[in-house]
Amino acid sequence: MQIIVADDHDDLSRIAAGHIATAIRDTPTGVVIPATGNTPMGTYRELAALRAAGSLDTSGLRVFQLDEYVGLPEGDDRSLWGWTLHSFVEPLDIPLAQTHRLPGNAPDLDAACHAFDAAIAAAGGVDLAILGIGANGHLGYNEPPADATAPTRPIQLTPASVASGAVYWGSEDRVPRSALTAGMPHLLGARAIVLLVSGAHKRDILDRSLNGPVTPDIPASYLQDSANLTVICDRAAVGG
Ligand code: F6R
Repeated sequence: MQIIVADDHDDLSRIAAGHIATAIRDTPTGVVIPATGNTPMGTYRELAALRAAGSLDTSGLRVFQLDEYVGLPEGDDRSLWGWTLHSFVEPLDIPLAQTHRLPGNAPDLDAACHAFDAAIAAAGGVDLAILGIGANGHLGYNEPPADATAPTRPIQLTPASVASGAVYWGSEDRVPRSALTAGMPHLLGARAIVLLVSGAHKRDILDRSLNGPVTPDIPASYLQDSANLTVICDRAAVGG
């Protein structure tokens, strides 16, 4: 595990983009799982700037969606697929044919999750997982309790995740209560994992995830067993 402490969120974004750009140059057709949420947005803007400047070719990447709410109508402003498209896929000029959605509207959600797992396996597994951490230690929407073997599946959001979702959508009423999430093995088994953590409100959960017991009650604690992990956080998240 490598831990890089940035000065602030902007610095985190620049450092993370540089780190991720190196990984992409090494594996330009790699399989990437990019988180949504607030933390990685600056990083994605920095990556898009590198691409626009001609110093990074992202067009060969293959993208698998990290998580999606269940039951939203197509085009709903809360769609995490829409967020993934606007923040990552489109600015990085990745062809849609190289992307794989988690279909939160599938008639058979379990079957859709199995198909997603099979598609990642067929793609050769995940090269790069770009993750944030929830206040409750979730990775993607692997809500606690989730152990290291939890597959891609439908889940119910915990009250903590409903509360943090309200930050995105204006109120808790607008936060869907269930979601699909890519399974833990895809994230923990990625050949490179970049965990982005920003802000004093993440300090406690980051400390418990990296330094506390490894437990299903804090899914991110399983990252302690990963040799491929780079944590990029800002000083506020480590109490400096
Ligand atoms: C987003 C996701 C979540 C977030 C986490 C942190 O697709 O799966 O696990 O990464 O909730 O969110 P922010 O970055 O908004 O604090």
